[in-house]
Amino acid sequence: MGGVSPDATARTASITRSEALLQRARAVTPGGVNSPVRAFAAVGGTPRFIRSAHGAWLTDVDGNEYVDLICSWGPMLLGHAHPEVQAAVAEAVARGTSYGAPTEPEAELAEEIVARTPVDMVRFVSTGTEATMSAIRLARGFTGRDMVVKFTGCYHGHVDALLAAAGSGPATLALPGTPGVPESGTALTLVLPYHDRAAVTEAFAVHGDRIACLITEAAPGNMGVIEPEPGFNEFLARTCTEHGALFVSDEVMTGFRASKHGQWGLDGAVEGWRPDLMTFGKVMGGGFPAAAFGGRADVMHHLAPEGPVYQAGTLSGNPIATTAGLATLRLADDAVYAHLTKAGDVVKTAAAEALSAAGVPHGVQSAGTMFSVFFTDRPVRDFDGASSQDTSAFAAFFHGMLDAGVHLPPSAYEGWFLSSAHDDRALQTVLDALPGAARAAAAATGM
Ligand SMILES: Cc1ncc(COP(=O)(O)O)c(C=O)c1O
Repeated sequence: MGGVSPDATARTASITRSEALLQRARAVTPGGVNSPVRAFAAVGGTPRFIRSAHGAWLTDVDGNEYVDLICSWGPMLLGHAHPEVQAAVAEAVARGTSYGAPTEPEAELAEEIVARTPVDMVRFVSTGTEATMSAIRLARGFTGRDMVVKFTGCYHGHVDALLAAAGSGPATLALPGTPGVPESGTALTLVLPYHDRAAVTEAFAVHGDRIACLITEAAPGNMGVIEPEPGFNEFLARTCTEHGALFVSDEVMTGFRASKHGQWGLDGAVEGWRPDLMTFGKVMGGGFPAAAFGGRADVMHHLAPEGPVYQAGTLSGNPIATTAGLATLRLADDAVYAHLTKAGDVVKTAAAEALSAAGVPHGVQSAGTMFSVFFTDRPVRDFDGASSQDTSAFAAFFHGMLDAGVHLPPSAYEGWFLSSAHDDRALQTVLDALPGAARAAAAATGM
């Protein structure tokens, strides 16, 4: 074990503990973080190292408190350290933490997910990335086809085939979006602009007999929140069906958050269609690494051990993670979603008022209980629109909020996440912070 030498301690005495920890972490971890966006690269400054969190509040290692609008990037629907989730987890941990054999909470969580969504069956994995990767493998195995269609600006985890997002027209093959992904890794991925029906129609007209699946975020949340235009997801589902491809709806972010039944509860359930496969994560793990993919029984039966498509995981369906997810979903009743709607309305209205008063171009967009604030006044319906934001205004706004005790996601391309624990005191702190942050954004606009 290393540790900090007395000299190093003396040298760091005048800096915050977060700064000191960042220095230490950087020496042993790229960027000092284990997921890039945590590093504050887009907004500048030092990421706060968090010591603890309760309800709507984060406490950093320097003792500063923040209203948390990250909520672990979605999972903490009930807020942090919810007593009933904590108790269920503590009880499960006392019995052991991983067996490599099936357990009761796995079956119960699967039943809960099947009850809330249109999937017939699910298979558990540990991350959303694994879920989308496995869903695509299953779609390819089921259809015997090799191509995948995705949309620019939709994030499905860091799966090689899905990191393609740049520069390709409807019928052209994509280039890799990151070094380390060989061209062959994305050569079978078609990347289309979101909301572009003509591009979808053309892609299927040209490649329809080779397309295994189309994957989309059920409502994009990784280029800011974009509500799918009425009928768009249904159009995608229908187009896939017409060409014998599978429609994969990625609800890792929207699942059990946009509504009790995810984004599907807001469109598919109303319009009477269902995806062939779906992916879930975040909320269903209750703050632990748990995710899932699921769908039509005839497709899911192609998975090993029943079928030939191999997929496995040492910690898949981990009893602690599934216990936390089960406790979370059982607590996530109508009252929780009603609270998220109400609290969201309060924050959205106040943010729009503060930014308007300061003269900062902005737009607020929602999908169910999810929402984000765009730093552009153009309605955003695709990645090009999201990219037209004034990111320097956002960075100034972000720091204005942070200084006033509100921790937003450090990116202009993310939703603002609330929980059922965001009570009047937490919301008031947000409301109090907004005008100053908006003025800071105004000062930075167009810099
Ligand atoms: C829609 C969507 N799909 C997949 C993922 C990947 O999930 P994970 O980060 O658990 O691998 C994310 C993560 O943010 C996501 O938002």
